[in-house]
Parts: sequence; C-alpha cells; structure tokens
Amino acid sequence: TKRIKIEALLKSSQANIDVTVKGWVRTKRGNKNVNFIALNDGSTINNLQIVADPNLIPEDILKLVSTGACISVNGTLVESQGAGQKFEINAQSIEILGAADPEKYPLQPKKHSMEFLREIAHLRPRTNTFGAVFRIRHAMAFAVHNFFNDKKFFYLQTPIITGSDAEGAGEMFRVTTLDAKNPPLKEDGSVDYKEDFFEKETNLTVSGQLEGELGALALSDIYTFGPTFRAENSNTTRHLAEFWMIEPEMAFYDLQDNMDLAEEFLKYLINYALENCADDLAFLEQRLIDEEKNKPANEKSEMTLTEKLRFVAGNDFERVTYTEAIDILRNCNPNKKKKFQYLIEGWGTDLQSEHERYLVEKHFKKPVILTNYPKDIKSFYMRMNEDGKTVGAMDILFPGIGEIVGGSQREERLDMLLSRMNEMGVPTNEMEWYLDTRRYGSAPHSGFGLGFERLIIFVTGMANIRDVIPFPRTPGNAEF
Ligand code: 4AD
Ligand code: MG
Repeated sequence: TKRIKIEALLKSSQANIDVTVKGWVRTKRGNKNVNFIALNDGSTINNLQIVADPNLIPEDILKLVSTGACISVNGTLVESQGAGQKFEINAQSIEILGAADPEKYPLQPKKHSMEFLREIAHLRPRTNTFGAVFRIRHAMAFAVHNFFNDKKFFYLQTPIITGSDAEGAGEMFRVTTLDAKNPPLKEDGSVDYKEDFFEKETNLTVSGQLEGELGALALSDIYTFGPTFRAENSNTTRHLAEFWMIEPEMAFYDLQDNMDLAEEFLKYLINYALENCADDLAFLEQRLIDEEKNKPANEKSEMTLTEKLRFVAGNDFERVTYTEAIDILRNCNPNKKKKFQYLIEGWGTDLQSEHERYLVEKHFKKPVILTNYPKDIKSFYMRMNEDGKTVGAMDILFPGIGEIVGGSQREERLDMLLSRMNEMGVPTNEMEWYLDTRRYGSAPHSGFGLGFERLIIFVTGMANIRDVIPFPRTPGNAEF
C-alpha cells in the first residue's frame, strides 16, 4: 500500500483500511503482550499510535524500535480506544529504515533546554517544539505571498551580492575572491578591487529596498522576500547576522497609506496563523503555560499565546509621533528614575528597547506605530518633513518584541535626496542608478521591511530568535 502522511491519516473519515506510514519513533512503551509506539513524520504535531503485538512483530525488530529510529509500518487503521486520538494503527509488519542507538541518540523523550537543543541544531527539527515552529514558519511564508498576490503586488527578486550599502550603516559582510591576508594593493596602499571578481567592492545585502524602489517606480507595487545580512555585533535575542526580510515598496503611497498597509499585513499574517496552524499553536501555547507554572503571579502573562494573537489582530494599532512618545516617556518618569533619565533632555536620541517596551507593554498596551523620527537617527532615503527636523519614518513596535517593522515614505525629490546623502556621507558616485529614479519620472513612494524572524517569534511565543530559524547565524556561530 502507498505511504500516507500522518496529518492526512488523522483527518481521514475511513477506518478499517490498510495503510503504510513512515516516520520517526518518539516513544515506545508496553509489556510482553502489547507495544505502543508513538510515531511522528513531521507532517503534524500529532503522533500516530502504532499498536504492535509481539506475537506478530518479531522480537529483533521490536528491539530496534527505539526513540529516534525511522520505521515503516504496514497495518490497519482502526478507531482508537485511547483518549485524545481518533485513530491508531494495528501493525501487521514493521520495517526498520534507520535504527538509532538508544545509548547515543541525544534526543530523549524528556524536556530538553533550548540551549541544549541549539547545540544539536541539526537534530532539533525532530522535537515537537521545533516541528511546530518550522511548520508555522512555512505557513507564514506562504501567507506573505498570498497577501501580496491578492493585492496584485509583484514578487521582485533583488540581489544578495550588492555594490551598495542600502542602509548606509556600514554593517556589511564583504564578498571577495581576493586573498584576504594578502590582497593586491594600489600604489597608495589601499586594496585594488579591480583585481576582485566583480572588479569593485561588493557585500552581502543588508536590505533589498533600493532595488525594490526601482521596481516600484516601474511596476507600481512590488515586494521582496529574501535573506539579508548584517555584521552588527549584537548578541541579543532579537538579532541575527542572517535574517529574512519582506520589503514591499509602493508607488504613490504616502506615509499614511504605508502604515495602513503594514497594519493590514501584520493582522492578515496573524489571522492566517490562527486559522491554519491551530494544532501547532495549541501545542506552543500549552508549552508556555507549563513554563510559567512555577513563576510568581506577577510574572505570569496576562494573556495566553492565542489570546495575545487575537488581541493584536483585532485591535487598531496606536499611532504616535516620535515627539509625542518622548513626552510620554518623560512624563512617565516624573521622579527621574534612572532607567529613562537620559531622555529628559534627549529629543533626538534613538529609543532603547526598554523605552519601546514601556510604550507598548505599559503605556498603550497594544502595538504602536511610531512616526516622524528626527532625521539624524534615520537613513538617508527617508523623506524630509516640512519642519526640516524630522523624516517620514514609521516603526512598528510589538509587545515582547520591540521593533518588528521599519519603513518610511521615501525622498523622491532629487535635490533633497542629494543633500541628505552628502550630509550623511553616503557616496553618490556608486549610486547613480538609484539617483536616476529621481531624475527621470520620479514619484512619491513608500515602503517598509518586516523582519520575518521577529514575526515568527511573536506568532510562536518563542523567547529567542535563534529558535525560530532552522540554521541560525550569530556572532561566532555559523555551524553547517
Ligand atoms: O529597520 P530596518 O533596518 O529597515 C530596513 O532595512 C529598511 N530598508 C526596510 C524598508 O523600509 N524596506 O530593518 C527592518 C526590519 C526591522 O524592523 C526588524 O524587524 C528586522 O528588519 N531586522 C532584524 N531582524 C533580525 N536580526 C537583525 N539583525 C535585524 N535587523 C533588522
Ligand atoms: Mg529599523
């Protein structure tokens, strides 16, 4: 008989049919009369129970059915007597596809710490938690394309190797075929990139935005969705050196339109997860509840995972300007508590994550869109406001996450853009292609970037960004 995935089997309406299932053994228990095997093939969080009769299945085979082993089972699908499962399989035969020495297999049927699982990142997809996270990650990627396809946005593939610094922040990984220890030098002693593969300095992209702008000023509405790279040395639970970003870019959108789209997009993705990932979310929710059991009451979450998702998807985000946010932070701190003290005189300084979290979690108690930041703390391409001090930026801050989206209306006026680039020391000679969009048929346009892993943290309730990407890259860590 043909192999059927467990997810499809458990949805089946038919019992008493012969089936073949293949997967990895989670647990085996039983006695000399009967064995119960919990089998998982990754298609769902739910295990399928295999009932194996030692009179039917040879002892030498049953011995090799241990946690982690891969087996193929032929049997009859029957309605289950046990609680919590609709079906089980009465095994007629079992084949060992790949044994797993119980003495050595690192994943035992018990709770492992996330730190331990990160050390065996090559095996962690076989745990319930990571299976759930990676299935949700897939669903979210699929939903991203659905959302934009429905809106007639075009998926634009922007380059991973670039010759420009899209954020102007200098946090790039160099791409070169030169001998790093002994590069060819020019007469003045600087590296001669004419000898390099691309005959110029190149880097891994930090953002597809600038190329995305070219797309928007031709196709009206585009989005990118790809890996981006940042050599910032921040060892936090919210930063990766390699992360995925979704960057829509829209001609004729102003900052309001941009915020409306971003809010609608985030709510769509969260609703999609609620509607399509219910089993995995229920598992992750229970996992969080178990984790919090031993915490004191004041440290427990006010909402469960799905309550939080429903709340965010069902309520308007708060929209405030940077200047209003600074006032709120000043006034929340009448006694000049040390924590926020630098803000007292600090219009113009960037918000720290503790400030962001205060606004979202304590003050507004909902997602916040912060707009119109001081120009000096934002990128060169953001549109200058009338006041000459602030730019048309918008960041979306989420509970438990901080910044999840960063975006802006773009500076479409050539003279303004040039003067900002000069002011910020962004080399214009490498960016004539970008400036041409403003020279020929320039148009008001806007866009934003959603950090895909930050979205996945929010939706899954995982605590660390290293645990929502299959192969995390962080400072000092590039396994595989
Ligand atoms: O705010 P950022 O740097 O904005 C841009 O790159 C713009 N070019 C986007 C645009 O307007 N098209 O990054 C956007 C988002 C952040 O809000 C955050 O969610 C995520 O990308 N992000 C990171 N995620 C994981 N690890 C990092 N090191 C990240 N840096 C940014
Ligand atoms: Mg940002």
